[in-house]
Amino acid sequence: MTEPQQASDFSKGVCVPDPNPEWVATDLYTLSHLDPSTAHNSAILKGTLDNSAAQGLPDIYSSRAFAKFLALQAKAIDAKHFLEVGTLGGFASIWLTSENPRLKVITLEYSPHHAKVARENIANAGLSDRITVHVGPALETLPTVLSDIDAGKLPRFDMVYVDADKENNWSYVDAAINGCRKGAVIVVDNVVQGGQIASGKERSDKPGYVSGARKVIEKVGKDERVTGTVIQTVGEGSYDGFLFAIVQ
Ligand SMILES: C[S@@+](CC[C@H](N)C(=O)[O-])C[C@H]1O[C@@H](n2cnc3c(N)ncnc32)[C@H](O)[C@@H]1O
Repeated sequence: MTEPQQASDFSKGVCVPDPNPEWVATDLYTLSHLDPSTAHNSAILKGTLDNSAAQGLPDIYSSRAFAKFLALQAKAIDAKHFLEVGTLGGFASIWLTSENPRLKVITLEYSPHHAKVARENIANAGLSDRITVHVGPALETLPTVLSDIDAGKLPRFDMVYVDADKENNWSYVDAAINGCRKGAVIVVDNVVQGGQIASGKERSDKPGYVSGARKVIEKVGKDERVTGTVIQTVGEGSYDGFLFAIVQ
């Protein structure tokens, strides 16, 4: 028996353009069956969002369906070592690790406040031994992590999720490839931007997002180290999409 979820149970923040009500209703219907409030990790995920909101974090976490997709993709490739760029309150990291008991996540966060709240959420979820938050600009913290991989102190990444400052999408992918094993999966979120990716017209509310999305797509298309595709998505996170690439 599944309980229907209300939009208010996991309210999603401001989306541009406003999501079509049918997209939101479809997410609520499917999530109520596939991730009901009785799911093993539902309480810790709700606690993460509640604590993040109470501490003033912006409502820009990955959508629930997408976070679950990442967790299932990690399961499909039996990922053990995951890199996330952009932690926020740890919602995606907590979903990933709570779904995959052998997975360890390194997650990079610029904001000391976001990182503090994320660490609290991770501790509340009992996952501090499997999620490590590095604080600072990811362009500075990622090279340190990659040095540890080169030195054999950390294993190579099986999967990478880029979800931070969109202008630097390509810089993160370009660097992270060096720390990935062959066959690793790289996902870059928010590369469709309500369809403005095709025209290249920058969004006035989010300058740099469209150019950052176009750059990573164009660079991946030319880079023989990776092969990728873009999947457009609709839902509670409005109309957007993600780049899915494999290290070859
Ligand atoms: C969309 S949120 C991440 C959501 C998270 N991946 C999730 O699904 O729960 C983006 C995060 O990236 C962080 N960020 C922005 N610029 C950054 C940078 N240069 N280095 C590291 N993190 C950054 C922001 O502070 C914010 O917390």
